[in-house]
Amino acid sequence: MGLLRIISALTVLAAVLGLTYGSVLNVNYNQPGHDVSPILWGIFFEEINHAGDGGLYAELIKNRALSPKRHGSNLDGYAVVKSEGVDGRIYVSRENPLNSVLDTSLRVNVDSNVAAGQRIGVSNNGYWGIPTRPDYTSYKASFYAKAVGGFTGPLTVQIESTNGSVVYATAQVPSITEEFQKYEVTLTPTPALIQTPSLDNVFTITANGPLTTNVSIFFNVISLFPPTFKNRPNGLRTDLAQKLADAKPSFFRFPGGNFLEGATIEERFAWEDTIGDIAQRPGHMGPWGYYSTDGLGLLEYLEFAEDLNAEIVLGVFTGYALNGESVPPEEMGPYIDSVLNEIEYIIGNTSTTWGARRAADGHPEPFNLTYVEIGNEDWISNDYHLRYAIFYDSILARYPQMEIIATQVVDSRPIPVIDDHFYPGFGWFPDNHRYYDNAPRNGSKIFVGEYATRDNISPEEYANTAAAMDDAAFMTGIERNSDIVIMACYAPLFGHLNNLAWQPDGIYFNGVQSFATPAWWVQHLFSVIRGDTYIPTTSDADEQKFFHVASRNSDTNTLILKMVNTDQNDIQIETVTLEGVTSTRGGTLTVLTGGRWDQNELAEPLRVSPKSQAFNVTSNSFSYTAPAFSLSILEIQL
Ligand SMILES: *[C@@H]1O[C@H](CO)[C@@H](O)[C@H](O)[C@H]1NC(C)=O
Ligand SMILES: *[C@@H]1O[C@H](CO)[C@@H](O)[C@H](O)[C@H]1NC(C)=O
Ligand SMILES: *[C@@H]1O[C@H](CO)[C@@H](O)[C@H](O)[C@H]1NC(C)=O
Ligand SMILES: *[C@@H]1O[C@H](CO)[C@@H](O)[C@H](O)[C@H]1NC(C)=O
Ligand SMILES: *[C@@H]1O[C@H](CO)[C@@H](O)[C@H](O)[C@H]1NC(C)=O
Ligand SMILES: *[C@@H]1O[C@H](CO)[C@@H](O)[C@H](O)[C@H]1NC(C)=O
Repeated sequence: MGLLRIISALTVLAAVLGLTYGSVLNVNYNQPGHDVSPILWGIFFEEINHAGDGGLYAELIKNRALSPKRHGSNLDGYAVVKSEGVDGRIYVSRENPLNSVLDTSLRVNVDSNVAAGQRIGVSNNGYWGIPTRPDYTSYKASFYAKAVGGFTGPLTVQIESTNGSVVYATAQVPSITEEFQKYEVTLTPTPALIQTPSLDNVFTITANGPLTTNVSIFFNVISLFPPTFKNRPNGLRTDLAQKLADAKPSFFRFPGGNFLEGATIEERFAWEDTIGDIAQRPGHMGPWGYYSTDGLGLLEYLEFAEDLNAEIVLGVFTGYALNGESVPPEEMGPYIDSVLNEIEYIIGNTSTTWGARRAADGHPEPFNLTYVEIGNEDWISNDYHLRYAIFYDSILARYPQMEIIATQVVDSRPIPVIDDHFYPGFGWFPDNHRYYDNAPRNGSKIFVGEYATRDNISPEEYANTAAAMDDAAFMTGIERNSDIVIMACYAPLFGHLNNLAWQPDGIYFNGVQSFATPAWWVQHLFSVIRGDTYIPTTSDADEQKFFHVASRNSDTNTLILKMVNTDQNDIQIETVTLEGVTSTRGGTLTVLTGGRWDQNELAEPLRVSPKSQAFNVTSNSFSYTAPAFSLSILEIQL
């Protein structure tokens, strides 16, 4: 009685001090469990929040091909450039198509004489500004142009300040003709002018006077690229691609998401329209409020997977759009062919029709493809059992080696892998970290294809530290159950600060800068610090607040212990015991922690970011205090 009172008094005291008193954590190294899925942590990309156009896809010109499927006079991004006193206009010309796919052009009409020393032309202000950054040391500009009315050039191509008073880079196309031709120039900014990143700029193409009123100049596929990731042509933005590469993702799921389905069947991701010359890509209206150029197309996705050394997880369109339209089974033929052709484009040798097309597009080597996902979030449709069966049978008949992923549980066919999505509020992930503990071991494998804690969402609120720790708590459960949970990825990946349709996102950016949220750092750390064999752990610490998972990395002979504290108080683990280990060689402790509401932002991109230090303990037993709202990862050399 007396002793109990003392213990409970100590517990109260500990609580007042903000400590959980006297807990233990046993790491049962002597009882290794299942293999950790070798492809457990990866990434999911969807064209949402301008993740692609204006984001990862490095094209800087907005609306470069005039969005032909919008069927309007769409001049989004463009303005006429003219000297004081000059008259002229720009408009979309239907009489001067570039080709049958891009069936319009941008017309610059000269409506007054232009004297020597004056200019007229067109500007584009990009995705909320044309970026200049010290590391953008050269740009590749290209466009199609022609002129009538006696004008034969030259054209001046520039990156200049919005007010026109500073010219950062300039180049000339000496002459043009009356027929559309492609012109390319390199723009090399003057380094002294670019001390800090700036978005207060435009891209211009202009003609210099003297010109007469009869002159009209036509353009299309106006394009501007800074240096790209791995210098790929038509490539990706360096800082954003590098953040993904740094996380060493094991797989890459694309292209969506709702973006795969489209608002209507017409507006689905039609992969055939996303390959080849960008002057032959019509683009299409996406479901998130903006038109996609599809410059980031199927081959660009595949090449990025290759650059990441990541397994491809291909989402295929299977006859359902977001407006509820379903293709009836008897009309499914062309959609089945499209998916089979898509797989052939990815893995077929160059003697196959689509393998040859891939080679013509610049990639003769086939890619490896194992995982094909039939649709996206099909629990919103009511005919998935029919569509799943059709695609399951068709794909496996031609490609029996494929591993099929379903998006909803149906009983019309076996489900090798099921894709689960979670977007809960604060607190749900910690409460449900045992979600998969009792899942059947002989049933479907599980792919957690989208998840994120949604806490305090607003344009000014990005994923905060506590939300990130909620994700981390759930991820300990994913890793513990990685005999059946074979893959998991956070979503969405990206948010453009000028266009946030969905929050939170892993990585935020504007045209020149980017930062990772605490939630993305959690993803990064779980992914880059991985074992291959699960090591069971047990603890008497409060299971609502303290989460843990361990593994062994056989290559490096390391014991990895991940601990998550989702509480506002520190949690003291008085004794961490490495069962079956006599002594260690110490190692590294990496901690990600911050205040409840702490988040990163452009002005302070690394406020909440991981810090590593030497862990010098070599005994098999030690104490550890997990800071409030923290992820701690111990890598112990055995
Ligand atoms: C024009 O913009 C540049 C660069 O943004 C700036 O340095 C300059 O002061 C501006 N000039 C005027 C006249 O506003
Ligand atoms: C403009 O074009 C018309 C018809 O082609 C021609 O008669 C006229 O001389 C031209 N004007 C100028 C200023 O070149
Ligand atoms: C190319 O692929 C086709 C279809 O799978 C196959 O029949 C053919 O043998 C392959 N050719 C080569 C050279 O591998
Ligand atoms: C495909 O997989 C094979 C065998 O695992 C590997 O040797 C090859 O490098 C992979 N190819 C690509 C393009 O990833
Ligand atoms: C899985 O195992 C359980 C228990 O042994 C069994 O009842 C069930 O039929 C099995 N399911 C499958 C799909 O094999
Ligand atoms: C751990 O060991 C390293 C290398 O011997 C030393 O520099 C460091 O100060 C030690 N850290 C602690 C916390 O004792």
